[in-house]
Amino acid sequence: MIIFRRIYSVYQSKRTPESLFDEIAQDSEVLQEFKHHSLRVMYLSSILAKKIGCFDEDLRIAALLHDIGKVGIAKEILFKPGNLNSLERTIIQSHSHVGNLIVRRELGKTRSAEFIRDHHENWDGTGYPRRLIGEDISLQGRIIRICDSFDTMTYDLRDYKLTKMSYKEAFDELERCSWTDFDGNLVQEFISLLIEIELPDSWYDRFDSNFIEKLYASIESPADLL
Ligand SMILES: [Fe+2]
Ligand SMILES: [Fe+2]
Repeated sequence: MIIFRRIYSVYQSKRTPESLFDEIAQDSEVLQEFKHHSLRVMYLSSILAKKIGCFDEDLRIAALLHDIGKVGIAKEILFKPGNLNSLERTIIQSHSHVGNLIVRRELGKTRSAEFIRDHHENWDGTGYPRRLIGEDISLQGRIIRICDSFDTMTYDLRDYKLTKMSYKEAFDELERCSWTDFDGNLVQEFISLLIEIELPDSWYDRFDSNFIEKLYASIESPADLL
């Protein structure tokens, strides 16, 4: 028993947010699909948080693992084109809560878990899971909400009418939904940051292991990514 505990604690001590993602994603076609999206949201959320002075490791972990709760959701539901029925919507929405549980139990990161729980709350109280309003939503949850939506608009084709938006179109959409879906002040900070670093159009095509290494290194100084 003691030996088992020792082995378990060694195993636990080696576990990182990245290894947790890989462990959970290895049998999940769905999560494999989300790997690069998760890395992009981690990067964008980290540099936005740095800009406004609230970056820490808990934010970075939450952004990386924000969709981990999608494990177990059938891809037929998750990638279903067109409208979802209310049961399908409830199943998809459960990922905020499931992600919260996974990160709390597997990493013991209670703050990160809360930020994950909040990443689909809307500023006007129409989001989920708790329908929080305004500043009752954690600042980090509001940051991830914006970066996640931007990446979905400009890369992921499911939620936005099968047309991929340009960065400019996505900025307009973020502004249009400011103070309903998003914290409008954070939207302005995000847009000015992306204009400042001149995020390249090609960055979606560059996710090989070298680029991912560079991505991590450049969280310190975002301009180095380019
Ligand atoms: Fe999500
Ligand atoms: Fe996401």
